[in-house]
Amino acid sequence: MEERLQKFLARAGIASRRKAETLIAEGRVTVNGQVVREQGLRVDGDRDVVTVDGKAAFAREEQRYFLLYKPPGCVTTLSDPQGRRTAAEYLRDVKERVFPVGRLDYDAEGAVLFTTDGELAHRLAHPRYGHRRVYLVKVKGGDEERLAAGLARMVAGVRLEDGPAKALSAVVHEEAEKNVWVRVEVGEGRFHLVKRLCEAVGLQVLRLFRPEFGGASVQGLRPGQYRPLTAEELRGARRAVGLEGGEAAPQKPSRPPSELPRAARRHGHGPPAPPGAEPAPAPRPAPRAAARPQARSAGERGTGPRRPRQGRGKGR
Ligand code: URA
Repeated sequence: MEERLQKFLARAGIASRRKAETLIAEGRVTVNGQVVREQGLRVDGDRDVVTVDGKAAFAREEQRYFLLYKPPGCVTTLSDPQGRRTAAEYLRDVKERVFPVGRLDYDAEGAVLFTTDGELAHRLAHPRYGHRRVYLVKVKGGDEERLAAGLARMVAGVRLEDGPAKALSAVVHEEAEKNVWVRVEVGEGRFHLVKRLCEAVGLQVLRLFRPEFGGASVQGLRPGQYRPLTAEELRGARRAVGLEGGEAAPQKPSRPPSELPRAARRHGHGPPAPPGAEPAPAPRPAPRAAARPQARSAGERGTGPRRPRQGRGKGR
């Protein structure tokens, strides 16, 4: 079967389609021994020999999908030049080369999908396919009117340094002791988008939690734990981005908004250690000024451990 080179690389689990385009542009991909920098080249996995960084790439049929409860205090990448803990370390037991779909900030926590499926990853990440992301954001409370006005402005739209942006919805989710959890839904994965939206309307972000991704929820997982997606969750995610059942259909949330899982209770000492690792130092402050985590409130409860998938680290 002939297909575009970047699609083949995505299907081979090398990277998302977008990242595959970068690999091609960087001259790291060869087809039949020749370096290829052309994006649209068509290849046939049965006939052509494709390599990335000198290693052969094979389009695979069987894909893997895992949902991680990313703890705060790690980066959502496979490796980190600064030597920080990575979310991928929590999936050390997974043999296949899974990669994260999109990013959660270093200090943010919650649902991150890891997969070998570059095509699904591409569609979940690309705004064209309309995949919605829900975040629970703990903001400094105090002034109800200001909060309501801020949320309304977020939905009306604000101007950020990289262009206009808006939330699809922004409502009060739960009142904590001194602070408020707001539920913000966005339709794209721009860098620090939710923090910047909050900042733009004068809301101080204390904590950022993503309770679900692609219709799969972290309910029952502790920070640092992961589980495979169920067949139904996978079908739902594929359907949402048009890979199953025709046109992309709006994604079903994992549960009604009022029943979204809460962020796990924090214990004040760094992220849990991944299997086989030393406990990490306490999380550093976020790169952006708005994200100063950790005001704790009596209203926070952890999610109970259900269906844990792997050994959890110490230090939680
Ligand atoms: N928006 C943010 O500001 N940070 C994230 O990690 C995700 C969305």
